[in-house]
Amino acid sequence: MKVLVVFGSERGGTAGLAQMIGAEFERRGITAEVRNATAPGPVDADVVVIGGALYLDRWHSDARHFVRRRRLELAGKPVWLFSSGPLDDSARAGDLAPVTQVRELAAAIDAHGHMTFGGRLEPGAKGLIARSMARKLAGDYRDPAQVAEWVAQICHTLAPTVTPAAPIGAVSVPRQRGRTRQHAPG
Ligand SMILES: Cc1cc2nc3c(=O)[nH]c(=O)nc-3n(C[C@H](O)[C@H](O)[C@H](O)COP(=O)(O)O)c2cc1C
Repeated sequence: MKVLVVFGSERGGTAGLAQMIGAEFERRGITAEVRNATAPGPVDADVVVIGGALYLDRWHSDARHFVRRRRLELAGKPVWLFSSGPLDDSARAGDLAPVTQVRELAAAIDAHGHMTFGGRLEPGAKGLIARSMARKLAGDYRDPAQVAEWVAQICHTLAPTVTPAAPIGAVSVPRQRGRTRQHAPG
């Protein structure tokens, strides 16, 4: 199974979340490719995860355009969406609803689910509004544990009966001579 993780990001925070998501799939034994939404290339994956940064309650245009332009390629594949935004801890509980625009896109492609993750704004952010926001709100509110939990939920939806992920660093344990216990990708 292969997962394609696509992102639209202005300042790198959402790109970083996409990398975390890809790494978590890989850790669970599932091949993952992380790709900028503007990059060419076919949607040659069994599962697609698409994320965009939130700016003024709008999803990053690269993510929006990806969904619209690749709609036929996405048809029939399980798709999950994520947004990255809030510059506080409000996203950590995992229950923030998508903005209207994302909700409509999700409905249009019959997406399986959506998650809002916290965002990141660096103290030296470029741009007039961003700089002024950063004076009060600079920080990194992305939560790797929340990312891991979401990927676990996706894996469970894809294959509810498979064994949970092996702990990091786990190895095959010899059980009987000539047989080994395999940690199935979860
Ligand atoms: C001008 C500006 C507007 C923003 N608007 C929103 C918003 O409407 N909702 C939200 O949750 N976060 C908002 N944010 C926070 C960003 O979504 C957050 O910094 C995010 O991590 C940016 O992603 P990126 O680094 O991938 O571009 C805004 C940030 C800036 C600088």
